[in-house]
Amino acid sequence: MNFDLTEEHEMIRDAARDFAQNELLPGVIERDDNQHFPDKLVKKMAALGFMGVMVDPKYGGSGMDTISYVLIMEELSKIDASASVIVSVNNSLVCYGLEAYGTEKQKQNYLTKLATGECIGAFCLSEPEAGSDATSQKTTAIDKGDHYIINGTKNWITNGGRADIYLVIAQTDKDKGSHGINAFIIEKNMEGFHVGPKENKLGIRGSDTHTLQFNDVKVPKENRIGDDGFGFRFAMKTLSGGRIGIAAQALGIAQGAYELALKYSNQRKAFGKEISKHQAIAFKLADMYTEISAARHLVIKSAWDKDQGNNYDVSSAVAKLFASKVAMEHTVEAVQIHGGNGFVKDYHVERLMRDAKITQIYEGTSEIQKIVISRSILRA
Ligand code: CAA
Ligand code: FAD
Repeated sequence: MNFDLTEEHEMIRDAARDFAQNELLPGVIERDDNQHFPDKLVKKMAALGFMGVMVDPKYGGSGMDTISYVLIMEELSKIDASASVIVSVNNSLVCYGLEAYGTEKQKQNYLTKLATGECIGAFCLSEPEAGSDATSQKTTAIDKGDHYIINGTKNWITNGGRADIYLVIAQTDKDKGSHGINAFIIEKNMEGFHVGPKENKLGIRGSDTHTLQFNDVKVPKENRIGDDGFGFRFAMKTLSGGRIGIAAQALGIAQGAYELALKYSNQRKAFGKEISKHQAIAFKLADMYTEISAARHLVIKSAWDKDQGNNYDVSSAVAKLFASKVAMEHTVEAVQIHGGNGFVKDYHVERLMRDAKITQIYEGTSEIQKIVISRSILRA
């Protein structure tokens, strides 16, 4: 067993780290304050190959492995989790879904533009009445022979206002339950497609979250992904990889907060010595270091499972459940270590704490990860 990163992995990690420090950090507080989507930075990330990390170069991607992807996600998330969720959705939900399950024509038409960053993608599963309970889809896709007619509402859609290409899950045949669900590629300019107002959020405020409305949207049959009735399995399989990306995002948020707390506690003095020399603070740092290291092993293991062709439904759920818990708990501790300074924006840790919370909610809440894990344990 070899725990070392390859030279190539170290290079890609360092490139992502430099980009995050030099490009993401300077405007991160302003983007968070004003809910500014980082349009120019997305273009720069695309130029570095971060929008199609794992996509085959023949479709415009970088052709890297999942371990490279999680290293990039961790580095971006240490500084700006809003930027990293844009990358995560585009890579692990939209590009992966199309590359793994799309037709050659769909790949040529859509994947090439998404992998190069010419277009941005969104993944539309959640609805007002179908969040965790994702099989309860109310959005309908009626089969009209050579096309489908789509009606319904999707909410909480990341990249919702900025995307050009949307993967949309909808119910074609209610009697067939989850086997009557399909996934479609919808373009922003299709008639009947409307983007609703942007959500005003607690965290990841630089990302773009919208409700979407579909009113008699006519979608050609060739835009359906996979066989008739494959849509729910498509969503589940794609989300397993997505959860690796969000686990890496949570890891990055935790690591970012830890690094800030370590630096601050070595500088700030109280009662005649650096606060890191008080055991209460030193032990917090030890707990952070230990649990973040454990989270990193779980994230890398799940990415490795995917790269090896192993099943990663459970390892991705385990990684997301644990890394998001670590992110939430240790960003709170990082604020505590900063004292009053932790409560103001200039020190970054309050933003990391707000951003951490979403990792326990999206791409399946922590309770949903426990359902996935416990069902697997009990089946075995
Ligand atoms: N692979 C293949 N098939 C799968 C599967 C998987 N990973 N998971 C489930 N299925 C199949 C099941 O085998 C079943 O098929 P059969 O009827 O043939 O047995 C069918 O799908 C239905 O599955 P379940 O009976 O397990 O369905 P359920 O109603 O109990 O729900 C669930 C399962 C795991 C809770 C699922 O609904 C779920 O994951 N919910 C959370 C939704 C979610 O993660 N949403 C994220 C939205 S995207 C997002 O959030 C992006 C972002 O923020 C950036
Ligand atoms: P609910 O499902 O109503 O859950 C409420 C609470 O009940 C949770 O604590 C949940 O864990 C718990 N619960 C529900 N069922 C059970 C159960 N069986 N057992 C135990 N506890 C249970 N969705 C997309 O499709 N695409 C996106 O790009 C996207 N981006 C998002 C971005 C943001 C900022 C946010 C906030 C959400 C995003 N989502 C997206 C939606 C996200 O995936 C859902 O919010 C999430 O799956 C939870 O669904 P819900 O909000 O309807 O909560």
